[in-house]
Amino acid sequence: MTPSPSVPGSRAARRLGLTERVFAGARSRKLTRIVEDGLARVEESLAAELRMTDPLVDTTIRYLYEAGGKRVRPMLVLLTSQLGNGVTDAVIDAAMALELTHLGSLYHDDVMDDADVRRGVPSAHSVWGNNIAILAGDLLFSRASQIMARNGERAIQLQADTFERLVLGQMHETIGPQSGDDPVAFYLQVLSDKTGSLIAAAAQAGCLFSGGPTEYEQPLVVFGEKAGVAFQLLDDVIDLSDDPGETGKVPGTDLRAGVPTMPYLLLGRGEDAASAALHERIDAGVDEIAAGADPAVLDDALAALRDHPATAQTRRLARDWSQEAIAALEALPAGDVREALTRFAVAVADRSS
Ligand code: IPE
Ligand code: IPE
Ligand code: MG
Ligand code: MG
Repeated sequence: MTPSPSVPGSRAARRLGLTERVFAGARSRKLTRIVEDGLARVEESLAAELRMTDPLVDTTIRYLYEAGGKRVRPMLVLLTSQLGNGVTDAVIDAAMALELTHLGSLYHDDVMDDADVRRGVPSAHSVWGNNIAILAGDLLFSRASQIMARNGERAIQLQADTFERLVLGQMHETIGPQSGDDPVAFYLQVLSDKTGSLIAAAAQAGCLFSGGPTEYEQPLVVFGEKAGVAFQLLDDVIDLSDDPGETGKVPGTDLRAGVPTMPYLLLGRGEDAASAALHERIDAGVDEIAAGADPAVLDDALAALRDHPATAQTRRLARDWSQEAIAALEALPAGDVREALTRFAVAVADRSS
């Protein structure tokens, strides 16, 4: 499923086995084959799309694509296309466009989060600097729009609405809560916007572009949105992982850069002295790093946060969102697609990379 078996990021993606978990079970063998064939078509088409005129430019836009990735969004598009007429050309276009939108957002996100490693390789901006990373991301966004535009106004609208929400999520995360905002509720909205929007669009797009029943679309949007929040909550737990080989990212990247995550926010709600002290230690470390200290000053505090009940609570919260996603599927007919979507929601809230 991932193109470059030789890089650690793609090894991590395979070990996760998210796709395998989604398609576990004899009943869905046919469905598994359809999705795997579809993913192969998406890879082939992406490889062709990611050639622009200039080889130097191509190197930058292909870089993170070739480093691996789980292809979660295309997988969802292909899956829900089985509620309609299956893997049409428009379904493949939507799967490609949403993956390219995701890919472009990773280039930009790593600049914003000052992340050194992505998909097991040095992040784009650490190789070429911020300007090239930002421009490569922009090229990926424009290519995504071109691909979506092949399928008319509805497709363009979906792309534009999704991208707007993704960017607003990143923007609100950057601005942070204002006085009167509850930090946890604010953050959940950020997760919904920056991650839920794209996963919701993927779940909807398969049904929409395969001519599936329109009454399934809204439940699929709710499903994707909630599963996306669960996915991102686990991403926050993964940010505290002590196994960069598995995650393909540097542990504690977000917190060291002062980007709050759910374990940190829940820690801030703790009223006991130990929670307050750990919260202060993290804040002090973030300030020191911002002033030029070695990011390793936060190693011990982040290990303590990993073992703190706030992290277990984040996992529970992810499972709650995943259950809500599953509840939205009640509007869908019973069968292997609904079962696979259910397993997807369970798997995203219980993953390690
Ligand atoms: C990472 O997404 C960014 C988030 C929205 C959490 P993925 O975990 O899907 O990243 P890849 O595509 O597998 O690298
Ligand atoms: C990424 O969120 C969301 C988008 C790229 C839109 P994070 O910053 O939390 O994700 P990772 O941990 O870098 O993958
Ligand atoms: Mg990030
Ligand atoms: Mg980020």
